[in-house]
Amino acid sequence: MIILGIETSCDETAAAVLKINHSDLIILAENVSSQIALHKKWGGVVPELAARRHVDIILPLINQTLTGAKIKPQELDALAVTGGPGLIIALQVGVETAKTLSWLWQKPLINVNHLEGHLSSPFLNQNSWSLINKKNTWPALALIVSGGHTELHLLKGLGQYQMIGRTLDDAAGEAFDKVAKMLNLGYPGGPKVSRLALEGNTAAFSFPRPMINKPDFNFSFAGLKTAVLYTLKKYKPSAIDHLLKANICASFQQAVVDTLVNKTIKAAKKYKTYTISLSGGVAANQLLRLSLTNAVNKFLSHSRCLVSPLKYAGDNATMIALAGYIKVRSKKLSNHLNNWQKINANANWELW
Ligand code: KG4
Ligand code: ZN
Repeated sequence: MIILGIETSCDETAAAVLKINHSDLIILAENVSSQIALHKKWGGVVPELAARRHVDIILPLINQTLTGAKIKPQELDALAVTGGPGLIIALQVGVETAKTLSWLWQKPLINVNHLEGHLSSPFLNQNSWSLINKKNTWPALALIVSGGHTELHLLKGLGQYQMIGRTLDDAAGEAFDKVAKMLNLGYPGGPKVSRLALEGNTAAFSFPRPMINKPDFNFSFAGLKTAVLYTLKKYKPSAIDHLLKANICASFQQAVVDTLVNKTIKAAKKYKTYTISLSGGVAANQLLRLSLTNAVNKFLSHSRCLVSPLKYAGDNATMIALAGYIKVRSKKLSNHLNNWQKINANANWELW
């Protein structure tokens, strides 16, 4: 199948063309236009600005992607679009554009949950895609860590997921962003915190590892964020210097990573999974990538750790195209020409 993927759920406008079947995966073209510069001065994503920018560039970006792929619309087998969750007015731009193109080009439209996209991203290269047909790949455990979600899913096979744990309050990425704000590091917070953490001491502050001893697989990061806030309040503003900030970043990041890795390993042991995958924007965090890989090698000798390629950790349309293919392949969706008539953006679309 040749699939055009479209993603506009937050602050990235993205399009990709994927040529795929059960054994081969070829990325014909992919483009991501980031809105970081647009939102930077506001300290976070402004939905109205995000949506307007998506409107301005979505069609030129799709056009550029098809040209780059050397594919004419008639050659596409389907379109896949992120229908939710995300910012409603941002999602609507991608969804309404995809519906219009689906009708115009007479191609089926596949509605993809953004988290199905993140779940697919660790399989976005030929080596990992070839694992899907191997018996010792499944069951798999997927840790998704993004700005809006922190979830553990058990995957019995491709496209067969069941949520076994999630955050009860803030997502891991949200905690990174909020700590960055407290420390005046700017937006987007995650990369700023992890960069500054390199200069700090991970043991400078003993921040809590929330819910680490609970038997379930849920997470909670609000208390950790508050612990950082209370620590900061002990200092006069003039005493909050570069080194103190670096120490806070390093200690906070270590607490988040310890919590995520600990729970993931426990879940992998319980469900006896052969593959442990990591995806979502926070999967760009080097300490997390390394710590989870090391822990899987150390504690789960018969398992492999499949970390999302760095460029597919954050939001992109290639993962949406792949998730679209997986949905059709696992017969979760008919590949119907008039699918577009039933598709609407849904800001709160839960995967489970
Ligand atoms: O998946 P994503 O691009 O968007 C959502 O679906 O939410 O994730 C964005 C999140 C943000 O919270 C951002 O701060 C975080 O991923 N992030 C990081 C890093 N890079 C991005 N968090 C920690 N360390 C990083 N290096
Ligand atoms: Zn995302």
